[in-house]
Amino acid sequence: MVSQEIIYYCNPVFRPPSEGNSLLIQLTEGCTYRCDFCMSNLRKHFKIRSVDEVKRDLDIGARSKYNSSVRKLFFLDGNAMVTPVEKLLELTNYAIKSFPNLERVGVYAHAKDILKKSDDDLKALSDAGLKIAYVGFETGSDELLKIVHKNATKMDFINASKKLMKADITLSATFINGLGGANNESVSKTHALESADLVNKICPNDDRIWYIAFLSLMVPPGTVIYEKKMRNEFKEMNSYEILSELKLFVENINFTNKSANCIFRSNHASNYLPLRGVLERDKSKILSLIESGLKNKNSLRAEHYRAL
Ligand SMILES: C[S@@+](CC[C@H](N)C(=O)[O-])C[C@H]1O[C@@H](n2cnc3c(N)ncnc32)[C@H](O)[C@@H]1O
Ligand code: SF4
Repeated sequence: MVSQEIIYYCNPVFRPPSEGNSLLIQLTEGCTYRCDFCMSNLRKHFKIRSVDEVKRDLDIGARSKYNSSVRKLFFLDGNAMVTPVEKLLELTNYAIKSFPNLERVGVYAHAKDILKKSDDDLKALSDAGLKIAYVGFETGSDELLKIVHKNATKMDFINASKKLMKADITLSATFINGLGGANNESVSKTHALESADLVNKICPNDDRIWYIAFLSLMVPPGTVIYEKKMRNEFKEMNSYEILSELKLFVENINFTNKSANCIFRSNHASNYLPLRGVLERDKSKILSLIESGLKNKNSLRAEHYRAL
């Protein structure tokens, strides 16, 4: 009997859009945090898999005929950066040795998990090949961060971003449009303004590449925000309100470093209008696309095509 070699996954798995062609390897399962809007820990008991289990999956990938086409590898799950540094280092080194053309390893990282690691730890991970961390900022508004139980503050995001940049790990941060809900203009305004201020504050002095991505809030069954919606305590914003919030964010981007290389994207499937540009060089182009979207509802992604 031939035994089939299959890489293990604890489904459903989530990965950033830019890791769509990456080899996905399950390092952790679920997430240690419980943000109100997120599905990452639903029906999963948090676990860090053993080094042997993960190496077994890396070996399966390395024995596959596709091994030389693996250029990017992403360690699942919701906050794989929580893994103790020795283990993360050993597995990153092992991954790099296993695939001849592997260029980088990536993880999702909650800001607190970055802050718990020392500068030396982060540098060692970066030197080993961990070159990108996807961090959920969601908003720069401390008030809203508290409401959605993000378990982090604007200051945590500033400090975590600086630590990543110091270690030469690329930052890819996500924000969620519509997070404060409809009928609350002041929350939405603070969300946009504080998020822009956060991005202005983390902008490095050099021309390295870093990423800011916007998603639009989805309200999946099982989440706390869904329960709130069912109790009429939360109402989703419509596409017009979401784009107006995004417009206010972009208008308030103002980097002192004019050669900053901040790639701005709203190409996630949850968004009504896919955008891409360099902040703040392409600010007026991005704003005019948002303006057109606001004027022409038919140019927006239909509600039933939106997804996480
Ligand atoms: C799987 S999470 C991992 C992020 C990382 N654990 C952190 O918190 O820093 C990836 C991102 O998806 C986005 N996301 C999660 N649930 C969402 C929802 N219901 N609607 C829109 N975006 C969502 C958030 O921006 C979140 O940070
Ligand atoms: S957003 Fe990140 S930290 Fe929050 S529950 Fe989801 S995966 Fe965990």
